[in-house]
Amino acid sequence: MKISATLLLLACASSSTFALNEIVIKGSKFFDSVTKDQFFIKGVAYQPRGEISDNNTMDPLADPAACARDAPMMAKLGTNVLRVYEVDPKNNHDACMKSFEDAGIYLLLDIATPHFSINRKSPEYGVSLYNAYKNTVDAFSKYNNLIAFIAGNEVTNDKTNTPASAFVKAALRDIKTYIKSKNGRSIPVGYASNDDEYIRDAIKDYFNCGDPDSQADFFGVNLYEWCGVSTFEKSGFKDRTQEFENYSKPVFLSEYGCNLVTPRGFSEVSALYGPEMTGVWSGGVVYEWTQENNRYGLVQITPSGEVEVLPDYTNLQNEINKAKPKGVKMDAYTESRAAPDCPAITGNWKASINLPPTPSDGACECMVQNLECVASDKVSMITGEKGNSTIGSQLDTMCGLVSCGDIVSDGEKGLYGGFSFCSPRDKLSWLYNLKARELKTSTSCGFNGLGQEVAPKRFDIQTCAKIAPNLGEVTESGPGNGNALASSASRMITNISGHGNAFVASLVCVLAATFFM
Ligand SMILES: *[C@@H]1O[C@H](CO)[C@@H](O)[C@H](O)[C@H]1NC(C)=O
Ligand SMILES: *[C@@H]1O[C@H](CO)[C@@H](O)[C@H](O)[C@H]1NC(C)=O
Ligand SMILES: *[C@@H]1O[C@H](CO)[C@@H](O)[C@H](O)[C@H]1NC(C)=O
Ligand SMILES: *[C@@H]1O[C@H](CO)[C@@H](O)[C@H](O)[C@H]1NC(C)=O
Repeated sequence: MKISATLLLLACASSSTFALNEIVIKGSKFFDSVTKDQFFIKGVAYQPRGEISDNNTMDPLADPAACARDAPMMAKLGTNVLRVYEVDPKNNHDACMKSFEDAGIYLLLDIATPHFSINRKSPEYGVSLYNAYKNTVDAFSKYNNLIAFIAGNEVTNDKTNTPASAFVKAALRDIKTYIKSKNGRSIPVGYASNDDEYIRDAIKDYFNCGDPDSQADFFGVNLYEWCGVSTFEKSGFKDRTQEFENYSKPVFLSEYGCNLVTPRGFSEVSALYGPEMTGVWSGGVVYEWTQENNRYGLVQITPSGEVEVLPDYTNLQNEINKAKPKGVKMDAYTESRAAPDCPAITGNWKASINLPPTPSDGACECMVQNLECVASDKVSMITGEKGNSTIGSQLDTMCGLVSCGDIVSDGEKGLYGGFSFCSPRDKLSWLYNLKARELKTSTSCGFNGLGQEVAPKRFDIQTCAKIAPNLGEVTESGPGNGNALASSASRMITNISGHGNAFVASLVCVLAATFFM
């Protein structure tokens, strides 16, 4: 008897590991893959700013006590999805993920962090960013209650920085490809946008157009138009809903909860989960769980670490309790809509539909091994945004002296140099080598001590840019690890050579010069 009781317990314990059913996408809706009911997100943003030190990655999913404290209170609120903006993949997240799973809560995880993200003003997408994203995918894909990844949040946020979206979409494409290559379950990857009147139409289509492998699996809008007592019509929610009425992917409010009027009454909840909106939207995520300086909290964490419920919590709970969204059944839902055309380049929208290549460690390593003049250890690796670092100023200087076509990216023109994804150090080595070969003197690799002569380890620069990214490994690949996979190679060549003769000519000259001199 005792044994069978233990066995039963074990069986229960192991089945509770899979307590939540997988949520899948069909057409423009989410569904519970087992019950086949439509799934509406009743989400809360979760990013307590507790112990921030200057360079710490915040990670609310690495604080088991806080998760165990918060998960049941979120369940009581009616929460079924948690949106987390920043984690550190090096931490262990098992305990937190279990707390939330036990509370019936899925995780919607933003993959970028302040240290690893695409800068909207000077967008780049390189090997270190790609590797950081892969690390986060690896750390979280194993959790049954991970509902989706968000590849970028409000990166392009107005008409002055739209080319950044080409870089975000490339990252989104590569995250999708990486997840697929791991042969696990499919995990949706989407984008969360702000709501800017000049770009809202273009950006929603941009992330949903073109090659299906690079389309976002869902689109989120951070929408704060409904403030205080308002209506579906007056708030702007009606117009936003109409704009998405034919969208071919699921859409939801990736943030909502205007706080211009406090305490918040959350009268938008009845619209969001009512007949006016459920045909188009799959629910939303309330911003945010804890009270912080920006005053959006549902609860207050006291100095001793206890939770105090704020009026917003109680108000939201009342509204969520009343919300009874009526969905469709998965099998009965067969509507399939076409993806839109990609938005044209206009005065307000300037992101090319030609995306940056997939960063390849192997390509950069191959390139550096072909050089006879590289950046020395004296070149500072610091690449801070503020102040001038040696490497940044050296790159600027060198770009005035030799052609930078092979290491720069242009998300508006859709031009990406063959080594544009390499690290700043590797890029500088490339430029030093170009200049040194042009000078052809015994001291031409000097660069005030920042250059260093080396014996090239290989002589195949033409093949370097064709080396495919290594999907299997996150750490840097060793020498000769790159496989020249045809598909990726042809993509790079197509996208390098498909654009303008000057650009092609410069690449060919540079390659030829490097090889023959
Ligand atoms: C800050 O953290 C990032 C990411 O872990 C790291 O790359 C960087 O070197 C750190 N900077 C400092 C000054 O410690
Ligand atoms: C959605 O499709 C219908 C039918 O084709 C069309 O009348 C309507 O204008 C479309 N709405 C939007 C926002 O494109
Ligand atoms: C950085 O470089 C710019 C332009 O060369 C210069 O004006 C500025 O003073 C420099 N800033 C620092 C912190 O060195
Ligand atoms: C490469 O660029 C060409 C020209 O713009 C484009 O038609 C093609 O779809 C791109 N290929 C890939 C794989 O991105």
